[in-house]
Amino acid sequence: MRSVPRILVTGAGGQVGVDLLDVLAGHTPLGGDPAFQPDGQALGSNEFDLIGLTHHDLDITDAAAVDRAIGHSRPDVIVHLAAYTAVDKAETDAEQCALVNTTATGFLSDAAERYGAHLIAVSTDYVFDGYKGTSYVEDDLTNPLSVYGRTKRDGELLCRERDTIVRTSWVMGVRGKNVMHVIADRALNGQVVRFVNDQTGTVTASADLARALVCLVRQRPGGVWHVANTGTTTWFDVADFAGRRLGRGDDFATPIATSDLSPAPLAHRPERSDLNTEKFAHEFAPLPHWHEGVQRLLRDRSVRAPSS
Ligand SMILES: NC(=O)c1ccc[n+]([C@@H]2O[C@H](COP(=O)([O-])OP(=O)(O)OC[C@H]3O[C@@H](n4cnc5c(N)ncnc54)[C@H](OP(=O)(O)O)[C@@H]3O)[C@@H](O)[C@H]2O)c1
Repeated sequence: MRSVPRILVTGAGGQVGVDLLDVLAGHTPLGGDPAFQPDGQALGSNEFDLIGLTHHDLDITDAAAVDRAIGHSRPDVIVHLAAYTAVDKAETDAEQCALVNTTATGFLSDAAERYGAHLIAVSTDYVFDGYKGTSYVEDDLTNPLSVYGRTKRDGELLCRERDTIVRTSWVMGVRGKNVMHVIADRALNGQVVRFVNDQTGTVTASADLARALVCLVRQRPGGVWHVANTGTTTWFDVADFAGRRLGRGDDFATPIATSDLSPAPLAHRPERSDLNTEKFAHEFAPLPHWHEGVQRLLRDRSVRAPSS
């Protein structure tokens, strides 16, 4: 009998992966809040035995390698973060995207069942078409508009009922490649930005998502869970808010329509895909408002590693 649960993380080198490994080890990641843990249980540095696997360590599209990795390490919980996340590129690379996001998620669910691990697979708001008109709850029908969204939805369908699926959206980490760094660099360099004001969603600070994932690692509930920061917004609002926090004014961010983007993005994105997170908030606690998450990201950007 193992004294502490063993947690295996795929995609450990990605933006959520690096934050999750920090949190599971009892540290506060860059962009995080040391006082916030949604289940109210402080994290010790020895609560978990951690195995973080980067793409280099494990290619999840190799079924035999997945089986070996899980079979040898026998984790109690697998947090599956590895994914093909280039949403526009996926439109012309559908086969590879499906292999990573769909087929390989099936390999992870198979291996979890075979070796008695609990699988937590992370998915996206882009499984929805955005036509509902209000925020999406866990049971709403999916109808993805893009290759990325379809492959993630199909990955969900290959998971078993006992697995936990976590849908999140608009994720931003200090150490990730994301739009917040573009906005901040331009704001600080005296440049301006144009952002769409007709796509509504929910921002998620990856450090806060990591804390939420810890709750699910501990509880292993199964089923679908929506996790995002509180508050609904548009990309323009995000840029305008961040610009003002960095000392810029009305002149910094200009709202545009998606139809004004030139060249037009290859992937169709939902107009309104904000996630209703009441289920998670009721069971644990709501995540902080996205303003707080973005402020922490801006606060800690200057101390991130130069390569990120
Ligand atoms: N970012 C968002 O806005 C967002 C929104 C909703 C949901 N999500 C979901 O959240 C999860 C974490 O996303 P993230 O933001 O951390 O993405 P990320 O930074 O792009 O990380 C994904 C990781 O997966 C790895 N990977 C790709 N193909 C792989 C393969 N065949 N085998 C093993 N590893 C592979 C990548 O490694 P390489 O870079 O070396 O290939 C990368 O480290 C994903 O499931 C994503 O779909 C993200």
